[in-house]
Amino acid sequence: MSAEKPVRVAVIGAGMMGSGHASCVAQSARGELMAVADADLVRANKLADAHGAAAYAGHRELLAGEDIDAVIVCTPDWGHREVCIDAAAAGKHVLVEKPLAMTLEHCDAIIGACDEAGVILMVGQILRFDPRYAAVKEAVESGEIGDVSYVYARRSNTLLQPRRFEGKTTVLHYLAVHDVDWMLWAMGEPVTEVYAAASRKALTDLGVDDSVFLTMKFAGGAVGCIQVAWILPEQASHNLDAYLEVTGTKGALFIDTPNAGVRFESQRPSRIDTTYGFAIGGRTGGALREEVEHFLGCVQKGTAALIDGRQARAAVAVVEAAAESIRSDQPVRLPAP
Ligand SMILES: NC(=O)c1ccc[n+]([C@@H]2O[C@H](COP(=O)([O-])OP(=O)(O)OC[C@H]3O[C@@H](n4cnc5c(N)ncnc54)[C@H](O)[C@@H]3O)[C@@H](O)[C@H]2O)c1
Repeated sequence: MSAEKPVRVAVIGAGMMGSGHASCVAQSARGELMAVADADLVRANKLADAHGAAAYAGHRELLAGEDIDAVIVCTPDWGHREVCIDAAAAGKHVLVEKPLAMTLEHCDAIIGACDEAGVILMVGQILRFDPRYAAVKEAVESGEIGDVSYVYARRSNTLLQPRRFEGKTTVLHYLAVHDVDWMLWAMGEPVTEVYAAASRKALTDLGVDDSVFLTMKFAGGAVGCIQVAWILPEQASHNLDAYLEVTGTKGALFIDTPNAGVRFESQRPSRIDTTYGFAIGGRTGGALREEVEHFLGCVQKGTAALIDGRQARAAVAVVEAAAESIRSDQPVRLPAP
């Protein structure tokens, strides 16, 4: 399509992330928000009305009724496959939230459908659009810290996250996939072996792990460790506590995300986001906007996305190996990509 024509977009799943994506599209010169679908029609109507878009209760009705170029899939982790496949079959470009899917079988089905339809498949691995994580990746690639010896990441959420997903996703699929994807991207080499251990104390009623420590061997000899948990108290002042450390033979790089340079004390839990989806004068900024702009630009120009289905699948493969390692209490080797 021509570079100046805005991309006509529908958002499917009008929850937390769908609302953010919808604002980014509606405010972009590259995009036009045409419609919103949510299994909960009240939610779909509310988000659609806020942007003057049409509302649907199902993605199939939306795909049949709307003249659009692309969809942004923001259904929960377990609901990506069907929506992505139907959208691809209808010839729509797809931006799907992370993780691509919860199993490799579902990842392959989505990749296959998008390949067959000849549409772009981009996955919302947002750390690639976080300027801090992008800068550290560039510094690693430049050789500034020498040969990477180890990479360590921590990602911790409050109990609000596992409680709202009712045991249908895991801390590995929901959180670890962020850092796994970033590490694969920054290291530029595959993971060959994974060992993981988990604890279950706070979420026994949901039947999911509280926290996972995941260690990885990279093909070039470096080691990686990712520590994820989602049991911080709901009253915690940060919804997200994340940290990254990359140490090489000539130096080290660090990211400490809760220290955003702003503090807010009040009677209620209060959080200020200065990175992912903040607003200035009502205009959304941050990594989510960068991600959406990138997708819209790829659709307009017909160029490859910074994070495609196969790269996102590689992160799911590591996460799946970690889940297998927890079950078996054994290291799990990954097949060569
Ligand atoms: N990139 C990030 O930083 C980030 C942060 C949080 C969540 N996420 C991801 O975004 C996705 C959505 O998460 P969320 O927090 O917005 O969830 P959410 O529960 O707030 O919203 C999901 C919405 O999808 C709707 N839905 C479910 N199945 C549907 C279907 N088949 N058709 C239409 N609508 C359907 C639900 O009714 C709900 O309104 C997840 O995959 C999650 O992992 C990404």
